[in-house]
Amino acid sequence: MSESGRVVRHKLSHRVFHWITAVCVLVLLTTSLLPILGIKFNWLMPHWIAGLVLIAAVLWHIVAIVAARSLGYMWAGVRESMASASFVLAIVTGKSAHSVKPGKYSLAQKIFHLAASVVVLVAAATGIIMMIGIDTPFWDRDPYFVTEQTRGIVFVAHGMATLISITMIIVHVYFALRPEKRYFLRSMISGWITRREYEDNHDPKLWNEDKQ
Ligand code: HEM
Ligand code: HEM
Repeated sequence: MSESGRVVRHKLSHRVFHWITAVCVLVLLTTSLLPILGIKFNWLMPHWIAGLVLIAAVLWHIVAIVAARSLGYMWAGVRESMASASFVLAIVTGKSAHSVKPGKYSLAQKIFHLAASVVVLVAAATGIIMMIGIDTPFWDRDPYFVTEQTRGIVFVAHGMATLISITMIIVHVYFALRPEKRYFLRSMISGWITRREYEDNHDPKLWNEDKQ
């Protein structure tokens, strides 16, 4: 829903979700990487707690998206992908081109979201397998849950998800702080963008401002 002059971009529950996931991912990265850099502390418990909170948040997110039937906002259609690709190609080859206004999210944001989903799901699935191998308040460790060989693959996949997520977050935060994308940052804090920002940057046919 929109007030006059303002269009709601992220309602409160979605903003809370984003910042919870952001804090969880940053806690996961600092707790796992600081000990490797020589700063030793009892990192394992905050690490798996942040992992479980992240998994719970993502499960809530998937249910909320299905309930709101807003999957289409993050879906990259063939026509939209081709239009964005030919625009980038024209820019790279120095030809003049008209940019096409996206719906709620640009193609780059949809690709980032897809990559973040894959990375988080791989980290979560492998993390749970690794957690079964340690003592927690919920269970005693079972070191033979997976074979030695599978454990190796699980560790590599978990580490790859970590490394890829670092690069992705650097790029994500860089774009969030860029002046022309600053209205996105405001919308992830306060929820709204101005009607002018909506009309200048988004196609109302692809993003119905009244559907959250
Ligand atoms: C794999 C299943 C997932 C599906 C089907 C899904 C789907 C969606 C959709 C459709 C939206 C657009 C909602 C809207 O703007 O109205 C969205 C937004 C978002 N997603 Fe996901 N997502 C998934 C996983 C994830 C994961 C793993 C993360 C965390 C890294 C994540 C983080 C976000 C964030 C931060 C937003 C923007 C905030 C919002 O408006 O909801 N998503 N997602
Ligand atoms: C702490 C630094 C972070 C900042 C400043 C930040 C900022 C933002 C902003 C401003 C948006 C809204 C873009 C829009 O309205 O379209 C957004 C969306 C999103 N954020 Fe973050 N974020 C941060 C950390 C993270 C982390 C750690 C993750 C998890 C991997 C994440 C995942 C997402 C996803 C999946 C979306 C939706 C897709 C998109 O809009 O690109 N963010 N973020």
